[in-house]
Amino acid sequence: MKGLAALGGSLALGRHAGAVAPVTDPTLAKFIHGLPKSEYHVHLEGTLEAEMKFALAKRNGMNLPFADVAAMKASYQYHDLPSFLAIYYDGMKVLQKEPDFYDLAYAYLAKAASQNVIYAEMFFDPQEHLKRGVTMADVIGGITRARRDAESKLGIRSQLILCFVRDLSAESAMATLDAALPFKADLVGVGLDSDEAGNPPEKFREHFAKARANGLKVTAHCDVDQTDTLKNIRTVLTDLKVDRIDHGGNIVQSTELVAIAKERGIYFTVCPTFSGTLRRTEKMPVDVVRAMLDAGLKVTISSDDPAYMGSEYIDGVLIRAVDRSRLSKAELIAMTRYGFEAAWLPEADKAAMIARLDAYVKSA
Ligand code: ADE
Ligand code: ZN
Repeated sequence: MKGLAALGGSLALGRHAGAVAPVTDPTLAKFIHGLPKSEYHVHLEGTLEAEMKFALAKRNGMNLPFADVAAMKASYQYHDLPSFLAIYYDGMKVLQKEPDFYDLAYAYLAKAASQNVIYAEMFFDPQEHLKRGVTMADVIGGITRARRDAESKLGIRSQLILCFVRDLSAESAMATLDAALPFKADLVGVGLDSDEAGNPPEKFREHFAKARANGLKVTAHCDVDQTDTLKNIRTVLTDLKVDRIDHGGNIVQSTELVAIAKERGIYFTVCPTFSGTLRRTEKMPVDVVRAMLDAGLKVTISSDDPAYMGSEYIDGVLIRAVDRSRLSKAELIAMTRYGFEAAWLPEADKAAMIARLDAYVKSA
């Protein structure tokens, strides 16, 4: 199998099936599983498993160009962010109607809840769906219905972040924001994802301002090793004044930017999947998670696009991160705590989740 990529932007190694087996002590793996956790960097469309793609295609009368699940999964070969995105956008075409978005979101939330995620803020890419004639009401409606059901049936709380697909036009992003604002009660924030090359964050300055004026929070991807990454990290920190940064690992190459992020109390949502930021690259010859923690940054860990990364969800991602980034138990607990502090929720709700974490750590 060919090299996988860098989501996170760093060119990665990899293979999915044959990735390095985690060597973590089984008691630590059990501890990780039981930890009450949060997740802030998961693209709902990136949780669309091959099995569900076939089921939705059948329901929607579509033919897929793969004989079976194994053949589809074998086609998930990419070597950089654009080649990943081509597969990711193609895969989401089976999402056509409100129940499809319900099923997608509910399946992710059920999986996350089974790994003791108690709170998630999930990305979605509506522009890609609107392009195909799906309505915003069906996209947000289906996801919101799933969020409600998952909270009442499974006890997992969640919120929704609308991402602008940065390689589409600024006009398309603004039209999408306008179409989403009638549903703003179902959104917590906006983000910026997709291909960063040639699509710097300032392209979305007005969109972010409008989102903020409508009471939404703001975050942005700064994928690892992208063109102008330090310039873009500076822009999101000092100009767009984001509330969080997604990935952002190259910040460790600038002591000045690290100082600004610390001063602003920025949380980073890092995705150390085996195909992403765990990989040392020529431009980033360090372990990103280790380097960010050593720089004193507030790192939280998420699973990004698990369906395309060997179906590894948060427990697996954390276990791997412990091994690869030499995380101590104390660091793991600190990162889990950052995960709740970073929530876009009222302070009392965050305190209640942190109390659950403290009680677990005390009893484990
Ligand atoms: N869209 C889905 N996953 C992404 C990632 N990791 N980076 C940028 N855009 C994305
Ligand atoms: Zn991402």
